[in-house]
Amino acid sequence: MSLPKLVFRLNEEGEYDGYKLLSGLVVPRPIGWIGTVRQNGTYNLAPFSFFNLVAVDPPTVIFSGGRHLDRPKDSVVLAEEAGEFTVNIVSEDVVEAMNNTSVGYDADVDEFEVVGLTSATGLTVRAPLVVESPANLECRVTRVVDIGGANRVVFGEVLVVHVRPDVLDGTRVNTDVLRAVGRLAGPSFVRTVPKFDLERP
Ligand SMILES: Cc1cc2nc3c(=O)[nH]c(=O)nc-3n(C[C@H](O)[C@H](O)[C@H](O)COP(=O)(O)O)c2cc1C
Repeated sequence: MSLPKLVFRLNEEGEYDGYKLLSGLVVPRPIGWIGTVRQNGTYNLAPFSFFNLVAVDPPTVIFSGGRHLDRPKDSVVLAEEAGEFTVNIVSEDVVEAMNNTSVGYDADVDEFEVVGLTSATGLTVRAPLVVESPANLECRVTRVVDIGGANRVVFGEVLVVHVRPDVLDGTRVNTDVLRAVGRLAGPSFVRTVPKFDLERP
């Protein structure tokens, strides 16, 4: 049978706004709040919802950045230059601060100062950790892939994980305490509490 659905061919120019369609359909997306450091030691922090955990052996996360009007996203450039970045988990209590770090500040602006967040130093990277986040990942860049359209995907191997103690039940993450937030389309976000469970057949 033919699918009783509307059809959009994204590879044909001008047919449809692929961003609105895809970012509305591929939901919810986790948010990687990416910390990077400049050569002069100042910090950079910005959210990316084109972000995910893609493997645990080796433990690998990716994020994908496009361009500002005048330059590529600083997070991508700085991660590649320094060979490292941090991922800071976005929970409900830091979601507004996260949103405020998405402003296209000049490349030399330290978002920690502007937004009023506390930075901590990692064990293996110079990139900053967000103290207010419930968990943080220290990552080493393993590759940067140019996928065209001014987008580049940064792959990072997770070297160190920091977790607030109350978030853990033994070795398991209590997601009801973590209260991570995901992104839908446009200005919409989603909570992870309440959740529902499904046993594997
Ligand atoms: C929730 C959220 C998710 C975002 N996801 C992305 C993304 O996946 N890719 C991207 O290029 N920009 C994304 N942005 C926009 C960037 O955060 C914004 O352009 C920021 O200024 C980039 O900072 P940088 O130049 O320091 O990297 C997102 C913004 C928000 C609020």
